[in-house]
Amino acid sequence: MNMRGEFDAADFDSFAASRRSTRDFLPTPVPDELIEEIIAAGLTSPSWSNTRPFVVAVAKGDVRDRLSEEFLSRFEAVKTARGEGLFGKIKALLRWKGLPTSNWLVVKSYHKDLLPRSQRVGKEMFTHMGIERDNKEARDGFWARNYEFFGAPVELFLFTHKSLGKFAASDAGLFMQNLMLSAHSKGLGTCAQGSVAVWEDAVRKEFEISKNYSLLCGICVGYPSESDVNEFGANRIGPSEIIPPERNRNQ
Ligand SMILES: Cc1cc2nc3c(=O)[nH]c(=O)nc-3n(C[C@H](O)[C@H](O)[C@H](O)COP(=O)(O)O)c2cc1C
Repeated sequence: MNMRGEFDAADFDSFAASRRSTRDFLPTPVPDELIEEIIAAGLTSPSWSNTRPFVVAVAKGDVRDRLSEEFLSRFEAVKTARGEGLFGKIKALLRWKGLPTSNWLVVKSYHKDLLPRSQRVGKEMFTHMGIERDNKEARDGFWARNYEFFGAPVELFLFTHKSLGKFAASDAGLFMQNLMLSAHSKGLGTCAQGSVAVWEDAVRKEFEISKNYSLLCGICVGYPSESDVNEFGANRIGPSEIIPPERNRNQ
């Protein structure tokens, strides 16, 4: 961009399209200043009456490690219960540990309007990784990587103000996208993580966060490794799939 604010939009499109979720990170630490820079870039997004109805908790070092450990142990409890059928689920309920404490929506199955898209990316990702459809252990292992934040040294937890409902979530999404593109421009990788939104209580134990906010998702941040998983390119649907036809008013 030059001093007059002129820019090449074509360059932006190819830059934005070149961002992909990173699912394997190097342990290389990310300097605090870089984290602050990408958060500042996030804050250049539009916002509902400029209210910025969200907070972002930065988990690194011991906090990050404790949360990862806690998530992994809870996931282990869920996994075991899932393997044991109905009886296991009841046992898990009794044990409580592992069951979502927030955002149950994350573990609900998808509506039929959306299911095929989710199934497609899941199938293509597992094929890319050489994981067989019926290899539950490998699939669980892959999902568990979410709770290691895919090895990223930093995990951000994005909370939205409850009073603004979907508008707060929309603002947080705009913030998140700017943040992710800023990270991408600096050679950092990111992955949004709805998977960590199920245990808000664990995150609250580590940070002072007002009850007026609720957890939306996590975002892991770090330097991408050379792992094959980072070569995966999720398919992109075309505009026609989201543009409804006009109503025929002559009928
Ligand atoms: C709010 C949100 C939550 C997500 N949660 C997860 C997650 O828990 N685990 C994961 O591996 N990917 C997660 N993703 C990443 C999506 O699967 C990914 O963005 C999508 O497949 C498109 O791929 P791309 O980001 O590489 O373009 C999430 C994305 C968003 C926007």
